[in-house]
Amino acid sequence: MADALDLMFSSGRSHGVWLDKPVAPDLLRRVYDLVKLAPTSVNSQPARFIFITSPEAKARLLRTLSDNNIAKASAAPVTVIVATDTRYHEYLPTLFHHRPQVAVDHGSDQALARETAIRNATLQGGYMILAARALGLDCGPMSGFDADALNTEFFPDGRLRSNFLISLGHGDRNALFPRLPRLTFEQACQIL
Ligand SMILES: Cc1cc2nc3c(=O)[nH]c(=O)nc-3n(C[C@H](O)[C@H](O)[C@H](O)COP(=O)(O)O)c2cc1C
Repeated sequence: MADALDLMFSSGRSHGVWLDKPVAPDLLRRVYDLVKLAPTSVNSQPARFIFITSPEAKARLLRTLSDNNIAKASAAPVTVIVATDTRYHEYLPTLFHHRPQVAVDHGSDQALARETAIRNATLQGGYMILAARALGLDCGPMSGFDADALNTEFFPDGRLRSNFLISLGHGDRNALFPRLPRLTFEQACQIL
């Protein structure tokens, strides 16, 4: 228990410098097999995960990143595009089969679909960070990129939309700066 909390939270940091240590494709499957179990509203699971591993795909990704993220992503063995499937509701007849009306509602109400997609795909990206850490990987989340350029490059038909990126690998702890401050319970929480 203490080890798990340490891996996922106490020692978990956002990494930008990576050791030259590969990440096996099978480990990416194990990460997803945990992520898929975490909760989403109406079991919608709207996130899609594009694991960028090849030099060719990495070069396409790097062109869309902000300057401060290029070195961080180029040395990472894997960078995941956490994307949102704008047509996630097409799976609802299976994923939420006990209430068929839900699929109809999400297919016809654009505001509901937009809010559901962004909320739950973002949650799933967060779950991915914790799942990857639990399996011994380090993460480097990034939102500094040109979303329009990335969407054009990787999702030209418009169905998927980029949300954020997560580099995965084994980070160099020696390159970390000290932890930045966190809000206290009193600053961030209320018990009513
Ligand atoms: C959604 C998201 C986007 C982020 N975007 C960037 C980014 O573009 N570039 C970067 O260097 N760090 C980025 N970060 C990392 C944060 O700055 C970092 O998590 C925060 O400062 C806390 O650092 P720590 O996790 O090491 O304690 C991002 C983190 C998240 C969760």
